[in-house]
Amino acid sequence: MADFSILALGGDGIGPEVLAAALDVTEVASGLAGIRLDIAEDLLHGAAWEAHGTFCREETVTAARAADAVLVGAVGGPEWDDIRVPGGPEMQDGLMRLRKALDAYAGLRPARAWPELGRFTPFRAGLAERADIMVLREMTGGVMFASPRGQERRAGRRYGFDTAAYDEGEIARIAHSGFRLARTRKGRLVSADKANVMESYKLWRAVVTEVAAEYPDVTLTHMYADNCAFQMMRTPLSFDVVMGCNLIGDFLSDLAAVVSGSLGLLPSACLCGSPGGRVKGIYEPVHGSAPDIAGQGIANPAGTILSVAMMFEHSLALPAVARRIEAAVERALVSGHLTPDLGGTATTRGFADAVTAELRA
Ligand code: NAD
Ligand code: IPM
Ligand code: MN
Repeated sequence: MADFSILALGGDGIGPEVLAAALDVTEVASGLAGIRLDIAEDLLHGAAWEAHGTFCREETVTAARAADAVLVGAVGGPEWDDIRVPGGPEMQDGLMRLRKALDAYAGLRPARAWPELGRFTPFRAGLAERADIMVLREMTGGVMFASPRGQERRAGRRYGFDTAAYDEGEIARIAHSGFRLARTRKGRLVSADKANVMESYKLWRAVVTEVAAEYPDVTLTHMYADNCAFQMMRTPLSFDVVMGCNLIGDFLSDLAAVVSGSLGLLPSACLCGSPGGRVKGIYEPVHGSAPDIAGQGIANPAGTILSVAMMFEHSLALPAVARRIEAAVERALVSGHLTPDLGGTATTRGFADAVTAELRA
């Protein structure tokens, strides 16, 4: 009888490659910790479309709900972008469907600087070496999920529209996650919005301010998202937790990767509850399916491996295993096992082997 059950979904492009590498690390880490995992694999998004004519089967949703955690490689590709199926946005994208079905609303997307990789960042010495930014992204609402949306003809012209909308409950629960996260870190929370021009963000700012009253120990700063992006690159060390809606959080989490040196290094957790204790979640790297390098075995699997560490921490409540995986990734990077995105020649498999060797050492 396994201690935990995991559903693993490779997805498309480099997704299956980085997932396979991360599963090797998962197996070694759990073996060393004396934990038995039951890992089931399935298809998601393009791969599911090709096999089943849907981006995410109902069976996959059921298995995801039953599992302790879901691991995802990456999804997407131009060949599936214009396929329309009946239903809302969650039916057009397998990953969005899973996030919605599991109510995995709290997206933790940490970006840290690796001092030894500073040469792969555009920062001059001293500006970002110790940067440690946690982007908290709302994952199940906002303009990416709201209706009405569509395309039609208006006054003879093509017209496309997506509605940005949040209700106060959706904002309050992500705000609580933000304040709780900040408490476990440096106690600073930046909330990024566009409350200067948009109604949904005026409500966002008002609700975040109300929730702040319960967390007097956390310093809250509201920033307009455009200025926030500028400040994050100007003074990355001044940031701790940066919280934003689904769309702003998507942009800011890729932006934060600049302090790390490669998008391939960033992990994420989409938690089905506030962080703290044991909570179910979907774990995936921040990057996409990278069609430009798919099939070559050279994708950086570090982001997916670090997502496994986040899974051990948040869904399996085994933070010691998480720390061991993170330390092994750090040693593999520092000892020069670098994939081409970091100027090296390591393969996806070679990097995973270096991490498992470090785990066993
Ligand atoms: P991308 O993140 O796939 O790639 C952006 C750039 O970063 C590319 O040059 C790519 O080669 C590089 N890169 C990304 N991950 C890397 C890794 N692990 N190692 C080395 N280099 C890496 O973004 P994109 O090209 O805009 O999107 C490609 C597809 O991925 C699209 O279909 C998009 O919808 C999808 N996407 C999926 C996710 C996800 O599954 N969570 C996230 C973002 C984009
Ligand atoms: C991400 C991706 C996804 C998103 C896409 C593939 C649906 O960009 O995970 O950051 O926008 O959430
Ligand atoms: Mn993204």
